[in-house]
Amino acid sequence: MLIMDRKNNITRRRLVGAGAALLGMFNAPTLLHGATQTMVVQSEGGLLEAEIEAVEAWTPLGASYARLFTYNTQFPGLRLEARAGDTVRLRFTNRLLESTNLHFHGLHVPPTGNADNAFLEVPPGESFNYQFVLPTNHPCGTFWYHPHLHGLAARQVSRGLAGLFIIRGELDEIPAIANATEHFLVLKDWALDRSGEVLEPSVMQRMIGREGSLLTVGNATSPKFSILPGGLLRLRILNASASRFYRLKLEEHPMYVIATDGGPLSAPNAVSEILLTPGERIDVLIQGSRETGIYCLFNLPYNRGGMAMMGGPSRLAPPEVLATFAYEFSADSAAELPKTLVNVDPLPEPEGPVRRFTLSESGMKFLINGREFDHRRVDTQVRLGTVEDWEIFNQGSMDHPFHLHTNPFQILDAAGQPERAWKDVMLVPAGQRRRFRVKFADFQGKAFYHCHILDHEDLGMMGVVEMVAVSES
Ligand code: C2O
Ligand code: CU
Ligand code: CU
Repeated sequence: MLIMDRKNNITRRRLVGAGAALLGMFNAPTLLHGATQTMVVQSEGGLLEAEIEAVEAWTPLGASYARLFTYNTQFPGLRLEARAGDTVRLRFTNRLLESTNLHFHGLHVPPTGNADNAFLEVPPGESFNYQFVLPTNHPCGTFWYHPHLHGLAARQVSRGLAGLFIIRGELDEIPAIANATEHFLVLKDWALDRSGEVLEPSVMQRMIGREGSLLTVGNATSPKFSILPGGLLRLRILNASASRFYRLKLEEHPMYVIATDGGPLSAPNAVSEILLTPGERIDVLIQGSRETGIYCLFNLPYNRGGMAMMGGPSRLAPPEVLATFAYEFSADSAAELPKTLVNVDPLPEPEGPVRRFTLSESGMKFLINGREFDHRRVDTQVRLGTVEDWEIFNQGSMDHPFHLHTNPFQILDAAGQPERAWKDVMLVPAGQRRRFRVKFADFQGKAFYHCHILDHEDLGMMGVVEMVAVSES
């Protein structure tokens, strides 16, 4: 089913069936609508099928146009929506002048073959059919896809290659949540010149992690959302920036977290601020409980380190308005927050010792356990079916958000207890140690772990974990 989703507005129209009609639309750019629409493809009868084309295109961005790398000429790319148990078939074509590939960030699917295989390279002009089945017990949540070619990841993501991959399920069926107005906020920064061309980063900017000064939500600058008095808004937020961290605060409104990276929480968790590092997602409810007016979603300053490299003391940017929320004039709708969500069981204690990783920076090299990434090497071998605790020690001067493919994890709190939330990115602040617990379930093969500041990944801060089935002999 193909739907045009007019952002900031709850009306949805079904246009045409899926499949070939979809491709037809992309070949007819005159049919593509302006700055406020994202294409959505939903699974039907257990099958999600879509065409995804990486192509450079002049794309509406904020008040103007920019020459971006896009999926299907849009930013963000097609929003894919499936359910646990569905088969996913994506025909991917690379129309860029350089190689690329797809990675399905956060999905628990095989990292091999034609599934979430980030070792693959799709050369310019070629196509590849990605196909996998979502396990029937796959958590519902907000996932995303982006390119993952070592050395080009930061470049390609920063130029606009990103799309949401939503898995609908139990959380979406809780009445208060099903009735909430849902918005998708893909946060992205852009470094553009005045004509709308993407600027090449300097060596220093790559070491720190490239950032752009133009901030958009989707392709809009400070979009306006409406709140119904007494009603609930659901915001699914993705940080699709290559390096930028976001520290989010909504004026006078607490945000009730209902899901983190990889799935729902057991109960809503009220927070006044959210730090969202690259690759992370958060799903929050906002209650329209304040006086009628307009409220700003701010991005507050945060120092992730690296400023010393710029030769000065840390200079923090002023808060910026990412979006505004305006109360509608209407009768009170008196929606209540759900009390419970979806139970998350803590993972059992591991039998083996803690596995340790040290992140370090040395000049232009970004290392894990003293080594630069090499795709031919297996850095870490784990047994399929086992639970492990991983400790990440950040010896560097910058914060590094650590990401693991294929299997989500539970972050261990200060007391060593697993948080009841599924994550796949864990911030490890400079000079600190953090632990998570992970179960290597279901899938054999090699997968990546890396810093999700994609320049750091491209500069070597990535390793290979191989999950091996060991037969009892
Ligand atoms: Cu979103 Cu290996 O990355
Ligand atoms: Cu990933
Ligand atoms: Cu890093």
